[in-house]
Amino acid sequence: MDPSLQDRQKATVGRYAAKFVEDGMSVGLGTGSTVEWTVLALAERGLSLTCVATSVSTQRLAIENGLDVVTPGEVGRLDVAIDGADEVDPDFNLTKGGGGALAREKIVASMTDRFVVVVDGTKRRPHLGVFPLPVEVLEFGADIVAVRLRDLGASDVTRRLVSSDNGNPILDAAFGRIDDPPGLAVALQAIPGIVEHGIFPGDMVERVVAAQGDDVVELVRG
Ligand code: A5P
Repeated sequence: MDPSLQDRQKATVGRYAAKFVEDGMSVGLGTGSTVEWTVLALAERGLSLTCVATSVSTQRLAIENGLDVVTPGEVGRLDVAIDGADEVDPDFNLTKGGGGALAREKIVASMTDRFVVVVDGTKRRPHLGVFPLPVEVLEFGADIVAVRLRDLGASDVTRRLVSSDNGNPILDAAFGRIDDPPGLAVALQAIPGIVEHGIFPGDMVERVVAAQGDDVVELVRG
């Protein structure tokens, strides 16, 4: 895709998703170059919001633009959470964590019944797995988790040079086509040493706001 179209799409869907937020709401703020536009659009509207940020970078952007940011425990539940994704399949399953924020992103997504996902036109795929699956691990278990990921079918596992905001290593596991994302999610959760993995099963998602050319399509699960 033409990079300028992709950038335009990120801005369009990111800004569009701000419409799901009303004054007084508690809002989960995702991480990445798409949801940055949501944060800016919310700040421009001058709403009084209580926000939980999924990364240090999002927290900084939100505070710089005048939004109030609290911890998950201070708010408990969220009226809505908005985040990007690296891949979305037709059953709303997601791959997330390209930016390394998957653990905080999954906590925040779990705090709401209204998880809204914003994606440019390159992210909709017939199957997850083209994008290597990010897996956050404890340092102590990083090497043995890599072995377990290969046992589960990953053809390659690479360790990122940069740790997560939580100080943990992140592995990228090349599974190739993933036929059963919820099943793989369960198998990954059973591996000791994995802090979190980047499969977000479709039942976490309320809707996907996706770019198509210069238009926006809303895909609502139901
Ligand atoms: C962050 O860890 C990721 O889950 C992002 O939400 C994802 O990589 C999408 O990022 P972009 O909006 O920058 O494409």
